[in-house]
Amino acid sequence: MVRCNELALFTEEPGRITRPYGTPSLAAAREKVALWMQEAGMEVRIDAVGNLRGRAHGSAPTMPALLLGSHLDSVRDAGRYDGPLGILVAIEVVDSVRARHWTLPFPVEVIAFADEEGLRFQTSYLGSCALAGSFAPAFLDLIDADGVTLHEAVGTFGGDPGALPAAALRPREARAYVEVHIEQGPYLESVDAPVGVVTAIAGQSRILTAFSGEAGHAGTVAMHLRRDPLSAAAEIVLAAEDLARQTSGLLATVGTMDVTPGASNVIPGQVRFSLDVRHPEDAVRTSAVAAMERRAHEVAVTRSLGVEWKIARDHPAVPCNGSLTTQLAEAVAAAGLPVEWLPSGAGHDAVVMSEVVPVAMLFVRCAGGISHHPAESVLTSDVAAAIDVLDRFVTMLADEKRE
Ligand code: GLV
Ligand code: MN
Ligand code: MN
Repeated sequence: MVRCNELALFTEEPGRITRPYGTPSLAAAREKVALWMQEAGMEVRIDAVGNLRGRAHGSAPTMPALLLGSHLDSVRDAGRYDGPLGILVAIEVVDSVRARHWTLPFPVEVIAFADEEGLRFQTSYLGSCALAGSFAPAFLDLIDADGVTLHEAVGTFGGDPGALPAAALRPREARAYVEVHIEQGPYLESVDAPVGVVTAIAGQSRILTAFSGEAGHAGTVAMHLRRDPLSAAAEIVLAAEDLARQTSGLLATVGTMDVTPGASNVIPGQVRFSLDVRHPEDAVRTSAVAAMERRAHEVAVTRSLGVEWKIARDHPAVPCNGSLTTQLAEAVAAAGLPVEWLPSGAGHDAVVMSEVVPVAMLFVRCAGGISHHPAESVLTSDVAAAIDVLDRFVTMLADEKRE
């Protein structure tokens, strides 16, 4: 908990936590975590995209490693547990194994992923994509709000764009990826359980869209002559909300909107905005995205506007691995805790890691289900429970190995 507080001080915006990919604050936080990994006996390295990887070799260093961890980047004005908690819980477990003078029969790696949230480049999972070998070369051309390309950002963050393909896990390098994360929802609190085993992670689409019309004078251009892209965007915001309200389980969010030129007495000339669409069932999500795209084109035609529609990320729902989740549930029961199962509405690096290794996740109860908000909070005793469960889980895998 002290370390979560310490990491909260690394930010690009004083007074609130904002730690996007490739920034000095993320590099400084990464340095701090590297130190804690070393204190827990791990050997550390930074990969080509800037993920931090701490490794405890164990007695059979060439065996496939158990990967643990979460992400170190944040959203804007974030809480202090979304991401860092999973990394720090994993370090605690490695440290506790070391403190017991015990050597695991397989390597354990704790990974602090560099970009799960996608705040800076309007995408997500760049860190885990590098590890999973699915980092598309075209990502390097993404541009942030200041005109910096991802190619440049990787370089200044101590990474190496040219070495990205080599950052991918090799066959048999890892056996599984297990992530501890705050729930970010109210379920565990409602059933009074400190932790829960995740069954599946909902799919999500992130769309970048824009309407372009004609800027003009707010005092002289008659209403019927205007081609106002902001009014069109407003229609889409409301249409998305409407569709999501009418479709069970569908969530749709417009979280960014950039209006240019941006003056109170100027009719906007262009509006760029994001649309985040999620549903546990992929077919429902993709048909909602298609419906919204049709609507955007209709609005553009009616208002004589240009329209852009770009799917920045499209991730299907991911089931967690059956045998790993069963073992996690056994570890929860062995810790004397009730076993609760729940799906994740939020995205996680486990989504991308599932492309190459079996994945499982353990959620930790959080107050009021609040997340992506500075009021995010967890109980110390729940965090202790999560450490205990992960420790038991790792011990279980080790015992299995010896049988
Ligand atoms: C990550 O936090 C996401 O689900 O957007
Ligand atoms: Mn997260
Ligand atoms: Mn998050």
